[in-house]
Amino acid sequence: MFGSSLKSISIFLLLQTAQCCAPNDARQAGNDTNSTPEHPYVVRGDDSPADLQTTGYYVNHFSLNVNNLTRSIDFYTRVFGMRFMFTYHLTPHLSFTYVTHSQGGRNGTGYQTNGELIREKNNNGGAIEFVHFTPPNKKDIEGPKVRATTLSHVGMVVPDPKATQERLKQQGVPIYKGVGEDMPTEGPFASPFYLGDATNLSPDDFAAIQAGMTKLNFQNIFAEDPDGNLLEIIPREESISF
Ligand SMILES: *[C@@H]1O[C@H](CO)[C@@H](O)[C@H](O)[C@H]1NC(C)=O
Ligand SMILES: *[C@@H]1O[C@H](CO)[C@@H](O)[C@H](O)[C@H]1NC(C)=O
Ligand SMILES: *[C@@H]1O[C@H](CO)[C@@H](O)[C@H](O)[C@H]1NC(C)=O
Repeated sequence: MFGSSLKSISIFLLLQTAQCCAPNDARQAGNDTNSTPEHPYVVRGDDSPADLQTTGYYVNHFSLNVNNLTRSIDFYTRVFGMRFMFTYHLTPHLSFTYVTHSQGGRNGTGYQTNGELIREKNNNGGAIEFVHFTPPNKKDIEGPKVRATTLSHVGMVVPDPKATQERLKQQGVPIYKGVGEDMPTEGPFASPFYLGDATNLSPDDFAAIQAGMTKLNFQNIFAEDPDGNLLEIIPREESISF
């Protein structure tokens, strides 16, 4: 991501039941000093076309620090059908790997050769890079088990979430929430959506978050990659109406 923009887009796009739209004086998220409307509410964009000088900008990849490169490559290629582009071993202690979905038709057939994938590397969206750093005095870097970074989750679109859920089960991937299930209140979601320390939330606030997140994510799956990064798996066909 990480451009912070990608990580929460899917959440906001899924707002289906929220009231439309907030009065102008409450447009800025987090500004509750003045006449905040009742939640949930939606603030829709009305920005002007982008600066022409930014034409052609787009998000190409985001990058995860991984503990075990083999394990991460295996996971994202085997479970999600991503293609292994390359690993660049810069030194014995630092490697970079790229994986990506095959482009062109987005039908997962992987018809692109490795040469084609690499040639298209910067003309592609949705790649993931793994950074693997092994300092000489340590076997592995610390993984992101403690969520000290701003990474919230990886969002992946699939044509059929229920079929994907079965696939994840078969592949032994930890699933925190399945299709049509409530958001769990145990595990990582005991702290709402990995947002951080929730101990100061009142039970009502916590319940409101859990209920709202259940509504927004009812068709979605939340699972975990080998380093504990949260995966949000969302259907391609999702009507957006608010
Ligand atoms: C919050 O909204 C009020 C009313 O529109 C505005 O005067 C104020 O500057 C805003 N504060 C912030 C921090 O955005
Ligand atoms: C890394 O992952 C691979 C594949 O899961 C596993 O076979 C290997 O033992 C792991 N290496 C370490 C050092 O844990
Ligand atoms: C997938 O896309 C490729 C490239 O467009 C095409 O050659 C192939 O026939 C497609 N396969 C299916 C099953 O749609």
